[in-house]
Amino acid sequence: MAYRLEPLEINRLGQCLEGCPMGKVYGLGIIGTGVIFDSHANGLEPLKSRVRLIAAADLDPKRLKRASDRYFVPHTYTDHRALLGRDDIDIVTIATPPSTHEVLVLEALQAGKYVICEKPLAHTLESADRIIAEMANYPGKVAVGFQQRFMPSVQKAVWLRDHGFLGDWQYGLFRRLSHFSGSSASGTGWWGKWDVSGGGVVMTQFIHELDLMIHLFGPVVEVMAMADTLHQDIESEDTFGATIRFANGAIATCCSTINAPSSLVMYEAVGAQASVHMPTWGLRCADGHRLREMNAALADAFPESGTPKASSGAVGRFKAKVLWKLQGAGAAKKVMRKAVGLVGIRPAPPEPSNHTRFFQAILDAIDSGEPLPVSPQSARPAMELCTAIYASALSGQPVLFPLDSSNACYKGVTTDGYRQRHSYAGQSNLV
Ligand SMILES: NC(=O)c1ccc[n+]([C@@H]2O[C@H](COP(=O)([O-])OP(=O)(O)OC[C@H]3O[C@@H](n4cnc5c(N)ncnc54)[C@H](O)[C@@H]3O)[C@@H](O)[C@H]2O)c1
Repeated sequence: MAYRLEPLEINRLGQCLEGCPMGKVYGLGIIGTGVIFDSHANGLEPLKSRVRLIAAADLDPKRLKRASDRYFVPHTYTDHRALLGRDDIDIVTIATPPSTHEVLVLEALQAGKYVICEKPLAHTLESADRIIAEMANYPGKVAVGFQQRFMPSVQKAVWLRDHGFLGDWQYGLFRRLSHFSGSSASGTGWWGKWDVSGGGVVMTQFIHELDLMIHLFGPVVEVMAMADTLHQDIESEDTFGATIRFANGAIATCCSTINAPSSLVMYEAVGAQASVHMPTWGLRCADGHRLREMNAALADAFPESGTPKASSGAVGRFKAKVLWKLQGAGAAKKVMRKAVGLVGIRPAPPEPSNHTRFFQAILDAIDSGEPLPVSPQSARPAMELCTAIYASALSGQPVLFPLDSSNACYKGVTTDGYRQRHSYAGQSNLV
């Protein structure tokens, strides 16, 4: 959904004179105006009193024009170095294919910028480790795009864990079924290519869930996995399943495919006292009294969550439910919210996207001089787990942690290496 930059009253030092709690308005530039660009541009919109999308760069002039027309980006470049050279840009987002991240992150850091690097941090664990080593010269200046850590249901789960409500972790079940229509995987030119994306459904999609698992359960000690290319015309895997053992003893199973007829995302994290269910929030506990206690504690800790108030009666409740469903930034939803609002119900404010929550945490950190959230170091374990899943799937063996440069997949999987992967019961490989 497009938005128009509204003029803000800004003085010559770049300080906002109106409606900006912390004063400084940061300039932001995005390198890469492909699919994820829209989520970034829309995610920044509610924060426009604190950060402004000033420039975009892309090798492809058509994509650049589309982005700038749609989001009214004042400055566009086909050479990212021109964007990095601007003094009015404080933060640079890298939204290009994974194998380009290392070079672009380092160039942006050298240009003195804060950096938001899209996931995965890099296309191989080796490349990620080079970025991490370089971070010693730029401490706290890079955030990696694991915006799902800022999802309200995940934050509630972490809060309950940290306050001892869930008990020791026992089990996790993480599942993401995606429907990729037509050529949406192969058509990008890079999706599923080992030397560009570093993998398929595991590295490019499920890495979000792998990061969440580690975020919730802690360090991994062992993984056993299978992966295959069952349907898509891509080099790497479109389907996988894995079992993971964590250092605290808990076990998680996880799976994902991009070949599903429709999309479904489901996470369950089970503690000895209670279980949490995400992304749609659920909390379960056999002891009803304890469950009420937990819900009361959550209501105190997260006062902004909950359902909108209905006016009165069944009609009011129905209208409030409609408004709740219409939350979001889409143009059609905004128009419909207004229409429903005209018939006497005050619309609930739209929920911020996970990207907005992530950007807000980044701006808060910059304002207070803290390291940016989701550092490359904290994003590494998910890369390590991806690599271990590939190593296990290719060898048919369990893989023990930690992984280092001695692992066969540390420098990435090759197309030939994947072709020779372990296949079940001696059956011939499927691709
Ligand atoms: N956080 C999320 O939920 C999420 C979702 C989708 C994609 N992503 C990540 O975002 C990144 C981009 O994915 P996408 O789906 O938008 O890809 P895309 O192919 O749609 O867009 C990438 C763009 O980068 C441009 N580009 C490539 N190299 C460049 C360079 N050196 N300088 C300038 N522009 C360059 C390409 O021309 C293209 O327009 C990937 O790392 C991907 O994994 C993250």
